[in-house]
Amino acid sequence: MELQKLPFQTQFSPSPSLKDFQKVEQNTQKYSEHQTLNIPNSSNPTVDPIFLLSFENLTYSVKVGPKSRFPYCGNNIVSRETNTNTKILLNDISGEAMEGEIMAILGASGSGKSTLLDALANRIDRNSLKGSVTLNGEALESSVLKVISAYVMQDDLLFPMLTVEETLMFSADFRLPLSLSNAKKKERVQALIDQLGLRNAAKTIIGDEGRRGVSGGERRRVSIGIDIIHDPILLFLDEPTSGLDSTSAYKVVKVLQRIAQSGSIVIMSIHQPSSRIVDLLDRLIFLSHGQTVFNGSADNLPCFFDDFGCAFPKKGNPAEIALDFIRELDDTPSEARNLVEFNKSWQASMNPDNDSNYKSSSLQLKDAIMRSIARGKLVSGVIAATDANLTSFAVPAFANPFWHHVLANRGFPKRRTGAIRMKSTS
Ligand SMILES: Nc1ncnc2c1ncn2[C@@H]1O[C@H](COP(=O)(O)OP(=O)(O)OP(=O)(O)O)[C@@H](O)[C@H]1O
Ligand SMILES: [Mg+2]
Repeated sequence: MELQKLPFQTQFSPSPSLKDFQKVEQNTQKYSEHQTLNIPNSSNPTVDPIFLLSFENLTYSVKVGPKSRFPYCGNNIVSRETNTNTKILLNDISGEAMEGEIMAILGASGSGKSTLLDALANRIDRNSLKGSVTLNGEALESSVLKVISAYVMQDDLLFPMLTVEETLMFSADFRLPLSLSNAKKKERVQALIDQLGLRNAAKTIIGDEGRRGVSGGERRRVSIGIDIIHDPILLFLDEPTSGLDSTSAYKVVKVLQRIAQSGSIVIMSIHQPSSRIVDLLDRLIFLSHGQTVFNGSADNLPCFFDDFGCAFPKKGNPAEIALDFIRELDDTPSEARNLVEFNKSWQASMNPDNDSNYKSSSLQLKDAIMRSIARGKLVSGVIAATDANLTSFAVPAFANPFWHHVLANRGFPKRRTGAIRMKSTS
């Protein structure tokens, strides 16, 4: 990727000086003023992908209660060699996700989808997680991850009496830096409302059981909105479509596609996506008992299962068909193991040189982040606390000082009951 193509004349070097950084910051702010209003949509995809998230041999196990008398029974994998009470939740999982794309984690309930998502989002103690997670080849420090990522949980608590616009504005006040003007925050909120497809519901209250408010699908998009107010580079979502009808679920994933195409990596777990949703997913990882049984694009599913010996029907939802096959194979442990092994050899045969499936970015992580900011990501100022040599990103969990949040909460009108839960990936 040519740095000269940047919209401003700044040369990055592996170790930028403070002067370089200040220059980048100034230009970034100028450029992002424009970008804040001009959030790309699907017709304006990212031109040069620069982020590649790789994870290799992720293995995670936990100690479980009293010794099982029947260690080989049940769905959970219990260490067979030692007959100890160790339960393997993730077993040697590898893969890649690239900017501009959605990677979906699929599998039956209990297969390890949320655990894998947590592992990638650094929500699992690094000492108990084996393997590596890197962005552009560099290990992700949690302080950096906090700044550049967001994690959207399944159930967000929202203030029922606030409108959609007020909710997002509250999030902007809460998460964007004090140094960003109110006008800029409002611009960001308006851009987000359009990006989330919430224009018609902007003035509608969130509501709850007693008060009619936004629909379930709109509510879910507001939940995503409060977490992506700072326009993160990495977005993790745990089942963003669960509980939604197929049209609302499709709209949510369409929004996620737009977010990915604005220069983010989107990784989510999902239960039984419809065919229309599968078409929006760039890469799928199917898990079974914490192991990968398929990793690739949905287009490869028929060929993969045909090669394994399961005739893949020509018609139907490929994700559903694959999940049905996996469920059937799960009933016979030896068959399930065969599928895991077959996936490894199939992956190797598809990629004999063991190269990344993606053209890996040549940019160092710091430079890639800077370039991304220059394109309008990480709403201006969020990384203001970055140190001069860019050796670490000394950014607190929230963009504003602690006292600001205390005051913001205390100053909130009494009639507005409920709670907004702001999360970071820590
Ligand atoms: N701390 C723990 N101790 C023991 N087992 C655990 C622990 N945390 C998770 N598990 C088990 O790990 C397995 C994977 O859990 P996970 O939440 O990742 O599943 P999932 O695929 O997300 O399921 P669902 O679709 O129901 O959300 C489950 O069997 C769960 O019970
Ligand atoms: Mg889950």
